[in-house]
Amino acid sequence: MAMLGHSPRFSAAYISRRKNGQVDIFTMLRGRFADVLDRASAHGGATYTTEWWDDESAKMRAAFLPEPPDDFLRNERLIWAMVANSPMFLECELPDLERAYGPDRLLSLLEEDLVGRQILNVAKYHTSINSVHHAYHIHRFVEATGCDLGGVGSVVEWGGGYGNLAKILLRWAETPVTYVIIDIPLMSAVQWLYLSCVLGPDRVTLVDDLDTPIEAGKVNILPVGLAEARPPEADLLVSTWALSECSSEAQQFVVGHDWFGASKLLLGYHDSNEKFAAASGVGDIARARGATVYPIEFLPGGYYAFL
Ligand SMILES: C[S@@+](CC[C@H](N)C(=O)[O-])C[C@H]1O[C@@H](n2cnc3c(N)ncnc32)[C@H](O)[C@@H]1O
Repeated sequence: MAMLGHSPRFSAAYISRRKNGQVDIFTMLRGRFADVLDRASAHGGATYTTEWWDDESAKMRAAFLPEPPDDFLRNERLIWAMVANSPMFLECELPDLERAYGPDRLLSLLEEDLVGRQILNVAKYHTSINSVHHAYHIHRFVEATGCDLGGVGSVVEWGGGYGNLAKILLRWAETPVTYVIIDIPLMSAVQWLYLSCVLGPDRVTLVDDLDTPIEAGKVNILPVGLAEARPPEADLLVSTWALSECSSEAQQFVVGHDWFGASKLLLGYHDSNEKFAAASGVGDIARARGATVYPIEFLPGGYYAFL
């Protein structure tokens, strides 16, 4: 039975006891990372990616080959790009979650995993600020739209980070979901490794050619270069601070494919800036699809768009 925590040290021991099996899976799979990365890299997709992401990806690639280290989630480039660790986020987000859900529900949604050695900085729920942040996106979406995630059969996520939002969304849904994550090859390989350890290798599949099927009820890792040739279908399209970090061609690709057929949208994005000139285009295309845009009160220049 899950129990509330009181210190990072206690949480570290607690997680390592409960998630010990992930170490064996990681040891077994890390040697296949380079091969998965090769297979994910065998396609195009460069027009969708910004220069900044090309550079970041090259730096992480150098750090994760020939094999990712045990603590790959502590890689400084990965943290900078996709791990929320500001106490300000926690102060704004956790109280809202605690008002909406009881401790048992939060423990089961938020509990961290052992693989990758994420930093545990929210001892009460044995979790990280990043997992609270990802759960908060889902909470805001559910609250604003009334969507029952248990009734969502398929999700496409554009730009899934290391797979953490997918993990929490699957916990939230509590029912089998066919989940597709579209990303650049390096992050496809990271998601394959992370989610295989967390969910079990039989629940994750790499879609690496035109004939590999999208498997129902699994997480399907789809490198962006293949998405054009075989666009997936979804009830819900998710993209948090990802489509906004791509080129406008990427945004037009999603629009041109009718948002993969999704009738529901969970989007987070920011205003355009020097690095990401097309970022605010996400708000324009989301509004045109019928989504409502919500400025994020504590994050100036940040928005959700929900449908
Ligand atoms: C800032 S991170 C956000 C990650 C995650 N969605 C989150 O909210 O923590 C941006 C994500 O977009 C992905 N990305 C960048 N260029 C992309 C492209 N051309 N196609 C798909 N995903 C891309 C990155 O690899 C990364 O996973």
